[in-house]
Amino acid sequence: MRALTVVPLQPGSAEVRDVPDPPPGDGRLLVEGLALGVCGTDREIAAGEYGWAPPGRDRLVLGHESLGRVREAPAGSGFAPGDLVVGIVRRPDPRPCPACAHGEFDMCRNGEYTERGIKELDGYGSQLWSVEPQFAVALDAGLAETGVLLEPASVVAKAWDQVERVGARSYFAPERVLVTGAGPIGLLAALLGVQRGLDVHVLDRAEAGPKARAAGALGATYHSGPVAETAERLRPDVIIEATGAPPVVLDAIAGTAAYGVTCLTGVSSSGHRIPVDLGRANRSLVLENDVVVGSVNANPRHYTAAAQALAAADPAWLASLITRRVPLERFAEALESRPDDIKVVLTLGS
Ligand code: BGC
Repeated sequence: MRALTVVPLQPGSAEVRDVPDPPPGDGRLLVEGLALGVCGTDREIAAGEYGWAPPGRDRLVLGHESLGRVREAPAGSGFAPGDLVVGIVRRPDPRPCPACAHGEFDMCRNGEYTERGIKELDGYGSQLWSVEPQFAVALDAGLAETGVLLEPASVVAKAWDQVERVGARSYFAPERVLVTGAGPIGLLAALLGVQRGLDVHVLDRAEAGPKARAAGALGATYHSGPVAETAERLRPDVIIEATGAPPVVLDAIAGTAAYGVTCLTGVSSSGHRIPVDLGRANRSLVLENDVVVGSVNANPRHYTAAAQALAAADPAWLASLITRRVPLERFAEALESRPDDIKVVLTLGS
């Protein structure tokens, strides 16, 4: 079968190659890959900046945003041929640390977790893949076109879970959220905000185009002005930061109303230095009981919440987030970022 592979930390090494089919049996589901979402992490791995091959190997099968259809399922697995499934990304560390031992491997404490398509485990970027049933999530049959958005939606479901848990340390009844960045994570965060009945605002650099249209179609208010001014005007109770751009992150941290929660979800590269008035930031955090919380990855609870959120969303709105579909063999086009992209998806069918 064909698979998108890469030698981690070697720029330009991404290649579609023949690789062996997953071995039969072994208690796993055998899945026909339908689609693979491409995100910033995949682009970083392809650029040689991130990623780990499986032990003893040079190449890693890329891809962690999966969607497939079960071809074979062991008896008693809870799955049947034809089911639409997504594979969970992370696996607990083998020791395991206390968080992994409690099934919260998204909160791994020792960094020895593994991740499909990212860290030491082959990903889902192949025509066939297999997955342990306990790391597979069943999707509503209506999500055959858009279920590939489940993994980014799970990251967002976790971010909202963090915001609500942090808020719950005292009386918390948020009304307004500002989402910075209208990529897939930002727009899905906005969707979950709308589903919670909040007044949702989305801010992005793009003044118009598919991102602005997608935010508007959700019923959110779209902004493209400076973050600090917009936040000052809106005084949001919650900010979900989805750009990872240092100046935006800084303005987001300082931008909430009192008792605000800023959740950072964007992975930045290091080396960008900007002057910071830490005294001002500290003063506002302390005097307002604000919290800044980082959030990455997702555990099965978040995948389940995300699957429910996608099933409840307008299918045409979800479809509008997928702005390009590229066949596997033309993967290089999918790895390019184009100005009007929201989510780019590789199609895996033969
Ligand atoms: C993935 C997460 C993963 C993180 C760090 C993100 O792109 O969505 O599942 O934990 O990268 O490797």
